[in-house]
Formats: sequence, C-alpha cells, structure tokens
Amino acid sequence: MSTPPFDVLNADAVPRTEAIEAFADAVRHGLTQPQRELPSCYLYDEVGSALYEAITLLPEYGLSRADERLLFRHTDSILRLLPDRLIVAELGSGSARKTRWLLQAFINRAAPLIYIPIDLSGSALKNCRKELFGLGGLRLVDLERSYLEGLQDVAAHRPPDHTLLVLFLGSTLGNFERSTAEVFLSEIRRNLQPGDALLMGTDLEKPKADLLLAYDDPLGVTAAFNRNLLVRVNRELNGDFVLSHFYHDVRYDAAQRRIEMHLRSDRRQTVRIEDVELTCDFQTDETIWTESCHKFNLDELRAMASRSGFYSAAQWIDNDWPFVESLWFAD
Ligand SMILES: C[S@@+](CC[C@H](N)C(=O)[O-])C[C@H]1O[C@@H](n2cnc3c(N)ncnc32)[C@H](O)[C@@H]1O
Repeated sequence: MSTPPFDVLNADAVPRTEAIEAFADAVRHGLTQPQRELPSCYLYDEVGSALYEAITLLPEYGLSRADERLLFRHTDSILRLLPDRLIVAELGSGSARKTRWLLQAFINRAAPLIYIPIDLSGSALKNCRKELFGLGGLRLVDLERSYLEGLQDVAAHRPPDHTLLVLFLGSTLGNFERSTAEVFLSEIRRNLQPGDALLMGTDLEKPKADLLLAYDDPLGVTAAFNRNLLVRVNRELNGDFVLSHFYHDVRYDAAQRRIEMHLRSDRRQTVRIEDVELTCDFQTDETIWTESCHKFNLDELRAMASRSGFYSAAQWIDNDWPFVESLWFAD
C-alpha cells in the first residue's frame, strides 16, 4: 500500500490563541442569552476528559458498556458488511478505549490500517494514543479539530482505493438538537463517497429514572464533570465563579426526549469574567445549560438515515441498556 499524505495533517492543530478566542466568543455569546448556556464541547479539557473516562466506568452510566458490548459481540457481523480495504476516521474519539476491539479485528483481516481519531480535545487524543499504543499494524494520525473540519481533511487526503468508515460512538449524536443532528449527518454524508460507511452508537429511550441516575450519579462524578466547566472559565478566561455557589442540575424533558444538564445558581450573585469583559448577575435558581443528551428510537434513526443521504444496513441492539449500533452506507 502506498503511504497517503495523512501525516501532514496533524502538524497544524488549532493554535492555542485561536482556540482561546473561540472559547471566549462562545462564553460571551452563551452567557448573555436569556437562557444562559455554554457549549458542551468545552466540557472536555484535560480534567474534563479524565472525568468523562471515569463516568464511563460508573455502574449507573450504562451507555458506554452497552456500546462496547455491541461492538464486541457483533464484530464479525460488522466486518462481514464492510470491505477489506478500509480507512477508519472516528469523530469525537475520546480515548477510543471501546474502538480498540474493532480496530484489532480490522487489522487481523487486513493490515496495516489507517485510523484517524478526530477530537477537539488534545488531552483526549493523548489518551487515545496511549490506549492504542502497541496495537501492531495500526497507523494512527490524530486530528485536533472539530468533527467536520477533521472529516473534510480526511476526505481530501484519502487514498482512492479505500472505503472510508466513519465511527461516531458513545451517543455523541445526542448532544445535538434533533434538527441540527440531521443537518450534521447530511454534512457527514457530503464528505463521503457512495459506498462509504458510518457506524454510529446511539442511546435509546428508556425509563426516566434510569436516565436521571445515569447523569446524576451518587458519587458526584458527573457533577464534577459539569462544574469543571466553570473551573475552565475561571482558569482560561480569568473568571471568578465560586464553585460552591453552583450545583449540578439534571432534568428529563419528556417532550423533547432528552436529558438536560444545567449548573444552577444557589443564590443571587454576580460573576465577572475579566477576559471577555463580562459581568453576569445571576438570580437564585437561574441556570446555565451545559449539555443535552437526546434519546432515540429505531424507526426514527432509520428515517434519519434516509433523509440525510444514507441507507441503514443494520441495527444491533443491546437489551440490558437499550442502545443501538447502526451501520449506514452512503447512497
Ligand atoms: C461523549 S464523548 C464520547 C467519547 C467516545 N467517543 C466514547 O464513546 O466514549 C464526546 C467526545 O467528543 C469530543 N467533542 C465534543 N465536541 C466536539 C466537536 N465539536 N468536534 C470534535 N470533537 C468534539 C469531546 O472532546 C469528547 O472526547
């Protein structure tokens, strides 16, 4: 196999000043909305990525284990539906701990394998390199980029005779508003060629009590993950949020079929964020919305596939924690 020029890509990760400016803009914009908000992608600094890894180990957080079980149990069926000559790009890879199974199986069938994890979090990518270190036959090229910027780079440099398999695991699709999710899937499709594939893990609807516990664990790891966003604002943008004055607040919106994570102010207070020249007056119980996790059903996902230019070839379902792995092909 000739060596494709992927290596040139990771030389130019987003410069730090640009990344801080983007964060500052997001904070300025989000905290001045009537419902204050902060984008969930900023939850994943070094501590946030480590806390997310801890969340995936919690007994209450069934999503990651279900995702991993499905990949493990159905590796052979997944392989049967995909050609030998593959390159694999993963959107929001995190540490890629679950992905290892699949990569190993692809390598066993046809090595070497090019794997391109794409993640905004440099520290998640560092963990990914550690996690996959020593996996013989793997050529890993990590991209510290947003999902679509990274995918565009992959599409521009792909070798002509390989099928591109895009992985989007961990129900990360659920972080988008439902209508935005479809636009996003169509954007993925625009970067693919007919016959390319998308393997996506998404959480299914389930009882509210299970969901609330999954996002508000008794140990408080998810609360720390959420509140760490304020620590990040304080550190990177010179803010003065008092951590103990905001608490983790999780709700289930039945109409929207989503979990919402908020940070609730426990008193009237004023917060100053010096580097964005912003002063926020919080009322008691006012919240900052930090993340949404939409839940799906099987028919809805199949319909989303066809509306965004894919056809759904298979769905593998975990019954212990209702969750689905979907394999879609670009039409
Ligand atoms: C919910 S975690 C999932 C991690 C992993 N795929 C898993 O299943 O455990 C989402 C990951 O996507 C990354 N991420 C969030 N928003 C992103 C964006 N807009 N572009 C690229 N990566 C993003 C985060 O840094 C994080 O590592």
